[in-house]
Amino acid sequence: MILVLNGPNLNLLGRREPELYGRMTLEELEDQIEAWAAELNVAVTLRQSNYEGQLIEWIQQAQGEGFSGIVLNPAALTHYSYALFDAIAAQPLPVVEVHLTNVHAREPFRRQSVTAAAAVGQIAGLGPLGYRFALAYLAEKTR
Ligand code: DQA
Repeated sequence: MILVLNGPNLNLLGRREPELYGRMTLEELEDQIEAWAAELNVAVTLRQSNYEGQLIEWIQQAQGEGFSGIVLNPAALTHYSYALFDAIAAQPLPVVEVHLTNVHAREPFRRQSVTAAAAVGQIAGLGPLGYRFALAYLAEKTR
């Protein structure tokens, strides 16, 4: 069972800077992720929060809730949240960091991820497909 977490402002997908993030809404993205999970024969739970503390609590509780891995798009928290880094590092589940856009090709502040160092890896710039590849990795690694 894989937990998929999306961070701040990702609830605005579809309306938010569509030239960057595309026209797919969060609901459509989540439906797509569920369809990919079904293909990969893995169960997923999808959550989004605009609150750092909520994301931290979900990460802290994930193992106890029976998850075997986490796909995480920390959104802007990626670039400055040491609290999120600590939360990832403090728990044993593999975390794959995903970004819809290529953060390395945007504003300089986006090139740094403080959370990626606690993750097993990062996928950036592949749009919604990044979630699929992260799920496929975790499904295979944690089966
Ligand atoms: C993002 C990239 C972040 O820099 C940004 O703050 C986001 C979305 C992405 O998915 O491309 O909110 O994580």
